[in-house]
Amino acid sequence: MADKIRVLLSEEEVNHRIGEIAAQISRDYEGKAIHMICILKGGVFFTCELAKRLTVPVSLDFMSVSSYGDDTKSSGVVRIVKDLDESLKNKDVLIVEDIIDSGRTLSYLIEVLRQREPASIRLCTLLDKPERRVKKQVKVDYTCFSIPDEFVVGYGLDYAQKYRNLPYIGVVEL
Ligand code: IMP
Ligand code: MG
Repeated sequence: MADKIRVLLSEEEVNHRIGEIAAQISRDYEGKAIHMICILKGGVFFTCELAKRLTVPVSLDFMSVSSYGDDTKSSGVVRIVKDLDESLKNKDVLIVEDIIDSGRTLSYLIEVLRQREPASIRLCTLLDKPERRVKKQVKVDYTCFSIPDEFVVGYGLDYAQKYRNLPYIGVVEL
């Protein structure tokens, strides 16, 4: 049965905002190269759209982490399912996430990646649900949109692996 999906952020709004964030990041990294780390699977659409709009040199790597939990909540226990291909040593790393919710995934990941001695690490997310934060120490450097505590899909985000390919951000009306 098809779920009903309400549009929260249209494709135009999302793309416009990614353009703004890309311009800001390009300014901040002027004279440097960005090593983007895409957090699979959800971060993949945002990573591509962001990377296309950056004006500084970019390299890309991918990582997949899974948090033990149900479909809609992360448990805080994170497992690396696919690790990076390349070393982070002396690189300016930009982690690209689809959404920061409790912050548990990123709080764990940032600790792991810091040990690999990058020159810097910053965090960029398409969506943030600040009300849901458990790990308050997670500092988000670039946020496209802060949203209320609702379960969203599209632009990489899934509900039971569906709807990642929607070109907008929507709320599943359960
Ligand atoms: P955190 O560890 O609680 O910050 O969880 C982050 C991860 O939970 C994201 O990378 C998503 O995979 C998933 N997630 C959290 N909120 C949503 C949502 O509203 N829609 C889809 N996935 C979500
Ligand atoms: Mg994710």
